[in-house]
Amino acid sequence: MTDTLSLLKLRRSVPPQFLAAPGPDAGQLDELLTIAARVPDHGKLVPWRFIVFSGEGRTKAADVVAQAFSKRNPDARPEQVEFERNRLLQAPVIVAVVSRAASHVKIPEWEQELSAGAVCMSMLVAAQAMGFGGSWLTNWFSFDRDVLDAFGLSGGERMAGFIHLGTPTSVPPDRDRPVLADIVSTYGA
Ligand SMILES: Cc1cc2nc3c(=O)[nH]c(=O)nc-3n(C[C@H](O)[C@H](O)[C@H](O)COP(=O)(O)O)c2cc1C
Repeated sequence: MTDTLSLLKLRRSVPPQFLAAPGPDAGQLDELLTIAARVPDHGKLVPWRFIVFSGEGRTKAADVVAQAFSKRNPDARPEQVEFERNRLLQAPVIVAVVSRAASHVKIPEWEQELSAGAVCMSMLVAAQAMGFGGSWLTNWFSFDRDVLDAFGLSGGERMAGFIHLGTPTSVPPDRDRPVLADIVSTYGA
């Protein structure tokens, strides 16, 4: 328990440029995704799914992003296109968490979307507990229809985020955290 609290107290993201190989291997990834799928999920709808990008698939995905960027920005300089391509070429393993939230007779869509956020967070925490670093990023292409089509998302699905995973080469200094007094109130006091 103490270990869990220490990890949660110190947890922080490691940006993709500081994530090198090795990333999680097949067995570790299986364990990570099993843990990530164990989140509160009202109605047991499993309103999310995973897409793993590594090896050849990661290179193809980076090409998709570069092409979409060039299409949206026909005057972009080659180095700008390469910068965008590189967004998916830094961390050795990237897991896209796709929200499948949809209208339901009993479970509000909002609750299903929150469940996808919990999946992302659990994956980050589990990755850090396994000795990896991670970052939860969306970037512009999580909202680009061409990219989503290429990655196989249907019209009703949304990108909850890309979880970039790898071995930290360095850990950036922590950022300021909220002051509890600013965000906590006691009802009825
Ligand atoms: C849904 C979601 C999307 C995010 N997308 C980005 C992003 O595209 N680019 C970015 O710099 N940070 C993004 N962030 C913020 C980082 O994940 C992270 O919170 C931030 O770097 C601080 O890290 P830490 O508080 O986990 O240490 C996103 C966070 C969330 C929850």
